[in-house]
Amino acid sequence: MKISVLTLFPEMFDSLKHSILKRAIENKALQIEFYNIRDYSKDPHKKCDDYSFGGGEGMVMMPQPVYDALEAADPGHKARRVYLSPKGHRLNQSLAKDLSRLSHLVLLCGHYEGLDQRIIDHYIDQEISIGDYVLTGGELAAQVVIDCIARLLPGVLGNEESAMFESFENNMLEYPHYTRPREFMGHSVPEVLLSGNHQKIKKWREAQSRLLTKKLRPDLLKE
Ligand code: ADE
Repeated sequence: MKISVLTLFPEMFDSLKHSILKRAIENKALQIEFYNIRDYSKDPHKKCDDYSFGGGEGMVMMPQPVYDALEAADPGHKARRVYLSPKGHRLNQSLAKDLSRLSHLVLLCGHYEGLDQRIIDHYIDQEISIGDYVLTGGELAAQVVIDCIARLLPGVLGNEESAMFESFENNMLEYPHYTRPREFMGHSVPEVLLSGNHQKIKKWREAQSRLLTKKLRPDLLKE
């Protein structure tokens, strides 16, 4: 899968150089390319923002550099183009799965007070938010999107990791995990996990998932 990131701050994406994402890029399961929006500005000073028509505080990202960066990243509009914004569709596991099936995804990161609405209306397919709070820009949100997509791509997680039951499968939270020692500071591992009875362990884990979801995220059960 290819992800093209359009940003004024490509250097904010250093988190991709580590761990599973690094491996995904090295294995070529994931290809990430960056387009610095400033490089596409036709302004002599490489300006990318301007005053808001109608007045008010804050600057707005100009359409021209963003449009040209979009055309460079995705000529002929073949990719899914996503703008990261608090107004967007809230990211969840099922949206991440949908995105992970694309061959080319474009992530546009905004800054200042926002982006000229004409870009969103005419050249963007989808707005995605990572939660109900406002970040200073879309870069951290894009990294969250990239991270949760990358681990869904074939060949990125090992068999053991990917076969694992995980939170949000079937709208349930994941059961708790324990490792050695059997007793830590007087706290024991649940007896059933030491029993070697796989049937019983499976049942216990399913029950724990149900209990945890009911207690911590009853909203998931309603979905
Ligand atoms: N940009 C600013 N806030 C954001 C959020 N919550 N999600 C995605 N992009 C954003």
